[in-house]
Amino acid sequence: MSDISFEPPRGMRDFYPEDMAWRNRVFDAWRAAADAFGFQPYDACVVESLALLQRKSGEEVSEQIYAFEDKSGRALALRPEMTPTLARMVAARQGRLHFPIKWSAIAQCFRYERMTRGRKREHYQLNLDIIGSDDVLCEAELLGAAVNAVRRMGLPDDAWRIHLSSRALLGELLAKSGIPAAQHTAVFMALDKRGKISDEDIADLLRNEGLAQSAIDETFRLLAVDTLDGAAALAGAGSPAIARLRALIALAERMGYAHLLQFDISVIRGLSYYTGIVFEAFDVQRRFRAIFGGGRYDSLLALVGGKPTPAVGLGFGDVVIGEILRDALGDVCPTPRHGYALGYMTEAERAAAVSLAARLRADGHPVNLALLPQKPKHFFAQAGASTAQFAVFLGPDDLAAGIAKAKNLDTRESVDLPLA
Ligand code: HAM
Repeated sequence: MSDISFEPPRGMRDFYPEDMAWRNRVFDAWRAAADAFGFQPYDACVVESLALLQRKSGEEVSEQIYAFEDKSGRALALRPEMTPTLARMVAARQGRLHFPIKWSAIAQCFRYERMTRGRKREHYQLNLDIIGSDDVLCEAELLGAAVNAVRRMGLPDDAWRIHLSSRALLGELLAKSGIPAAQHTAVFMALDKRGKISDEDIADLLRNEGLAQSAIDETFRLLAVDTLDGAAALAGAGSPAIARLRALIALAERMGYAHLLQFDISVIRGLSYYTGIVFEAFDVQRRFRAIFGGGRYDSLLALVGGKPTPAVGLGFGDVVIGEILRDALGDVCPTPRHGYALGYMTEAERAAAVSLAARLRADGHPVNLALLPQKPKHFFAQAGASTAQFAVFLGPDDLAAGIAKAKNLDTRESVDLPLA
């Protein structure tokens, strides 16, 4: 036993109380934002059937699955993402659900990845999905909810941007360059590897897909387009993809986050199921992988055996935003003071302290009752360093007077609490 490490397995995390403070800050903001935008919570099993998760599209995530066999020989896996599971759940009840549905989940996901700062082998992901509508207001609401969550966490708007593009737009442009639609997904998956492998290797991938050298050159030229107007000029008047992107930006204007949007044709997304608008949020210095990412995936429901149904969603991980928040707000999570710290000098005041704690708790106040008698100096030092709003210390004089003093740890003012 003695050579068992104290560390969690590589890429996995323990959450000590100081880590939980950060995690709760993120989860609380996620839940509040999802609720503010009318998403209903759901959940699912962490273990999924391998067949549902595996797609044969050259996606990185398919190669990162933690897969295993159960004792009956079933091929199972820890989910690397929530979207296939959501598609399965929705397909199972497609006749009974009232579409469009807006669902949210906080899902732990597992990917066997190469580790860097902001990249682990396990993470929690807020998933927001709207299924059953192809209106671009869905994209606007989704992004609005994600912006709302980031703002609740305390990250200023100038620290991050949402990079926006559209696979439908890229599809239109590829089609204009003579690349048939059947090859587009393979082209997307190859282009998504940009920055991770060399452009020559990407060209090789495209060549293997049967693209001629002229089509490959044209594909790289498309990626050099850096404004929406530039893309619109290439796509030509009447491009549905451009109209949709402009409609989203107009809605974002009304919702107060258009200044966070940035057209970026290089955003493609590494998952094969996206069909329309795609987006990824990054810190402005681009130190990390995406804060969140998502897009429209109108074909996935049919792919898992359901009826064709439009859908759009995003995944927002806890790791990257955690690193960015620590950098922006300091290493100790700022937690608002609340509740009472309650101490006592000797065993003689303990019973009164227990009764007072019971009364305060019955009134709905959190109370951290000292487990042992303490010197006042020691108690107040601990209370000050805790998250308590009020510190109450019972000594023999308080008991005799029948009144305790609750000291507000922000204002240093005291209020009287009768002990009876
Ligand atoms: P994704 O881009 O693969 O999308 O992941 C979404 C987010 O999860 C990323 O932006 C990142 O914050 C976080 N994340 C992913 N992998 C890791 C990792 N190894 N370590 C730390 N954080 C990570 C999806 O998963 C899609 N299923 C999202 C979606 C929902 N699309 C539609 N609905």
